[in-house]
Amino acid sequence: MIKVAPSILSADFANLQRDVQMVEQAGADALHIDVMDGQFVPNLSFGMSTVAALRPVTSLTLDCHLMITAPERFVGQFAKAGADLIGVHVESTPHIYHALQLIKQAGVKAEVVVNPGTPLTQIADLLPIVDQVLVMTVNPGFGGQAFIDAMVTKIKALDELKREHNYHFDIEVDGGINATTVKACYDAGATVAVAGSFVYGSADPAQRIEDLKVATN
Ligand code: DX5
Ligand code: ZN
Repeated sequence: MIKVAPSILSADFANLQRDVQMVEQAGADALHIDVMDGQFVPNLSFGMSTVAALRPVTSLTLDCHLMITAPERFVGQFAKAGADLIGVHVESTPHIYHALQLIKQAGVKAEVVVNPGTPLTQIADLLPIVDQVLVMTVNPGFGGQAFIDAMVTKIKALDELKREHNYHFDIEVDGGINATTVKACYDAGATVAVAGSFVYGSADPAQRIEDLKVATN
């Protein structure tokens, strides 16, 4: 069964505490927080103050997906705000190894993220030091986009590398996840699924979390 991390990008921002506690009670495994800077991606969203505000109201793992240029400037502040895991894009800095080292030094789990157009060869040297790899299954920046089917092959190839080298990182997928696409990702080796609009776009988010779990059971 896959672990589910609802993305609050599709939650009701005027009722964030309610929407977070609702998915926690529904059995979510983590909470996905999309941080955007209007430069690395063409959109703006949350910052570390949102992470700090949510920390006391949930015990869910706070999975912070940084879609920002030169994220090494901010990883310390996200760790201090209460992040449990910080994801940084390989495309967002020439100092990706350093950024991951800083995350680990802050006592937080480190994740590297790859865009749909980025080959796995670009993260090969990072795999021994990461706790999680996020394979983007849409172009980052917006919720509600269609899943890119070609990414299933990439997930499979990453899972093969993981087995071959006996790595222990989780494989997360993000973008266009629903009860159908989650199964393809899970079968290919994904262990964690982010879901924004599928969960929060429903009148019954708890049922949608259940649907993702049942689809991969
Ligand atoms: C996109 C974000 C996603 C987004 C996914 O840049 O990284 O986390 O919230 O939204 P859905 O699940 O609606 O595709
Ligand atoms: Zn995300």
